[in-house]
Amino acid sequence: MSKIGVFDSGIGGLTVLSQLINRLPGHDFVYFGDNARVPYGNKSERVIQHYSLQATKFLLSHNVDMIVVACNTASALAINQIKEMASGLPVIGMINSSVSDAIKITTNGNIAVIGTESTIASGAYQNKFSMSNIKVTTKSCPLFVPFVEAGMISHPALDLIIDEYLNFLKDEDTLILGCTHYPFLKTSIKKYLPEINIVDTGESAAKLAAQLLGPNNGIGITEYFVSDTPNNFINIAENELGLKITNLQQLNIEEW
Ligand code: DGL
Repeated sequence: MSKIGVFDSGIGGLTVLSQLINRLPGHDFVYFGDNARVPYGNKSERVIQHYSLQATKFLLSHNVDMIVVACNTASALAINQIKEMASGLPVIGMINSSVSDAIKITTNGNIAVIGTESTIASGAYQNKFSMSNIKVTTKSCPLFVPFVEAGMISHPALDLIIDEYLNFLKDEDTLILGCTHYPFLKTSIKKYLPEINIVDTGESAAKLAAQLLGPNNGIGITEYFVSDTPNNFINIAENELGLKITNLQQLNIEEW
């Protein structure tokens, strides 16, 4: 049995965790949601790296065997630093496997990526696609994360924002949800774009983790940690993802 450390700025990474638990039910997980400092997606590279390394250090203190960076922003801006700190442990980010999946799925070679401001500005997705002959279009959608954190995942106000952000799509047949908060909005996005293929970065990463670790009999446990009062954390995890949170602790991440 392995122990897998997973982190995000808040509840977004829970969409990744639920995919991981589905595919690797016999393994243990430690989840850290940095809800005291969410959002990461409008912060500078220096700050995102600092936060990501504190989260990594905390997860390593739990003797994890693998780290899943369940945050596209940290994957785009801090993956090299995280790998260095993890010194040889497998580290899975959100970008490489979702780009490979999108390339397999598209039939017309036009792919769009949406994400936080920092993820899109980093050029990480654009760089990854530059090794293919795919035409990639990108857009940052900064209001999606606060909507999700507030638990507003189906609302007329959200529909207006979806139209504002996604009406740029024309020839693209595939859309990467390049932020782990966005899968909570999948139903609303699907309603607006019924024909498009949606790539969920957490699902792509979970497939890769399952290939690397393989199945394990038994039932693993998950420990949850947050850096501020949980507010919507438990409700959203239980009601939207069917996770059962029995083991949640608050920590001061500034000490790490
Ligand atoms: N869920 C994260 C991501 O995948 C970060 C969102 C945020 O904190 O801005 O990018």
